[in-house]
Amino acid sequence: MAMRSRGLQLRSRRQHSVLVAAAVVVGVLLLATAAPRVAAAGLSRNYYAKTCPNVEALVRGADILALATRDVVQQAGGPSYPVELGRLDGKVGTRAVVKHSLPGAGFSLDQLNKLFAVNGLTQTDMIALSGGHTIGVTHCDKFVRRLYTFKGARPQYSPPMNLAFLRQMRGTCPLNYNPTTVAMLDAVTPNKFDNGYYQTLQQQKGLLSSDQVLFADRRSRATVNYFAANQTAFFDAFVAAMAKLGRIGVKTAGSDGEIRRVCTKVN
Ligand code: HEM
Repeated sequence: MAMRSRGLQLRSRRQHSVLVAAAVVVGVLLLATAAPRVAAAGLSRNYYAKTCPNVEALVRGADILALATRDVVQQAGGPSYPVELGRLDGKVGTRAVVKHSLPGAGFSLDQLNKLFAVNGLTQTDMIALSGGHTIGVTHCDKFVRRLYTFKGARPQYSPPMNLAFLRQMRGTCPLNYNPTTVAMLDAVTPNKFDNGYYQTLQQQKGLLSSDQVLFADRRSRATVNYFAANQTAFFDAFVAAMAKLGRIGVKTAGSDGEIRRVCTKVN
């Protein structure tokens, strides 16, 4: 049991390193904080400071995140797509604001659709974007309730979960789980950006309720089945939905936003 948890944590660290690596690569190139290995390849730590001192003012944190996401998706085996640039960073950056606008792991199909529709996204967009869970991890606290909900003596998990997988996940996340333990969101091909996430849902191995509900609910199941069978259709839908997502709430006019000196903090 302990071995399994450790294995998952190690895999997740590798997964994280892919995400972090892409962000770092973009950051390194754009903000010219060259690591020694890069410097050894003939690049210099102060290249942009000498040649383009305003580069940090030109490329905004919000744009860097959009570019980093594009690069992570591609490096993990997914589609490449153009990213529109020119966003200003937000002037408000509190945990409460972010939490309020994000979907929850326990959302029903109606709740998911409602939140995405407010932002002009269709159910198909929402299902394609959920395919972002083809890579990455989730912590035990986000799904542990699904593992230990009983009705009488029988497990009562809604939406349903594959019984053998549920037992395996109880090993990963016992009732006294370690809050840092994680499990892969895509049980079929956890390290590849592909349509394995939808096959995971078909096998009822989705960990987040908000993922598994897409297959459990008859209104969204056909799209899950379609993406599970046709990776090109998933990639096309994902790229189209990411373009829409990249335009939501974008600030481009001066007083709306700012260019952050530190990406994670308002000025
Ligand atoms: C449909 C609504 C969504 C819900 C309810 C949702 C919820 C979650 C939750 C609960 C986690 C686990 C966080 C943790 O345990 O630390 C997670 C992880 C993740 N989500 Fe989503 N998410 C949604 C949409 C998206 C979209 C649209 C994308 C990207 C296109 C995305 C990409 C990811 C990735 C890559 C991870 C793994 C992060 C990591 O490995 O550290 N999610 N999501």
